[in-house]
Amino acid sequence: MKSAYKRILLKLSGEALAGSQGYGISPETIMQVAQDVAEAHKTGAEIGIVIGGGNIFRGIAASAKGMDRASSDYMGMLATCMNALALQDALEKVGVHTRVQTAIAMAEIAEPYIRRKAMRHLEKKRIVIFAGGTGNPFFTTDTAAALRAMEIGAEAIFKATKVDGIYDKDPAKFPDAVKWDELTYIEVLNRQLEVMDSTAISLCMDNKLPILTFNLKVKGNILRAFQGEKIGTLIKAN
Ligand code: GTP
Repeated sequence: MKSAYKRILLKLSGEALAGSQGYGISPETIMQVAQDVAEAHKTGAEIGIVIGGGNIFRGIAASAKGMDRASSDYMGMLATCMNALALQDALEKVGVHTRVQTAIAMAEIAEPYIRRKAMRHLEKKRIVIFAGGTGNPFFTTDTAAALRAMEIGAEAIFKATKVDGIYDKDPAKFPDAVKWDELTYIEVLNRQLEVMDSTAISLCMDNKLPILTFNLKVKGNILRAFQGEKIGTLIKAN
């Protein structure tokens, strides 16, 4: 079935690659993710991916334990580059053409981020994996996803997580937790829902970029999202 969208920015957390051990890169998990992304790509949609790095290094956690925040964030950015190369490898194994672009120059390893070049790659139906966050400390990879989505003219951000959407309370602790199908940016900010940090949400709000959050662990969910099925929680203006 055809994609309901022309161009989407898919945000994957680093943990999405980790498998059951919770850290590092699990070969089985990354192949599973790559297959799911490849299925979605067959719908004809153009896909940019921003990947996190938390499965390898968490900048915020390290700075909470006393490490300089900028240094720990730079380490986190390097972690996203490792994930990007692993994801590129997995996607190419399932026959998808990809390019990795990094926000921090490391030209021997991957292309630098050049917006117009990224757009050409997308037009040629290559998946572009954006690594290195925004290239700046103090910004999360969610903010990088919002920024890149806007730069490439994506119609929405698909944030694939480990929960089915956004709940009024933690569904793991409270059986009566209720999932929202839709929320506004302001509701997310006012209720301090931890779906994305406030910088990322504000950037999306100011530019009216919808965010669809859904569970990556449910097989076929990425494809369902691209086909426009109502899954997860959609965050939009009103
Ligand atoms: P077209 O111009 O559309 O053909 O795109 P292309 O990406 O195939 O062309 P290009 O000749 O720019 O790149 C060929 C290969 O080299 C691709 O796999 C790129 O990802 C890679 N590449 C391009 N620029 C760089 C760079 O600065 N560093 C690294 N490491 N690889 C690069």
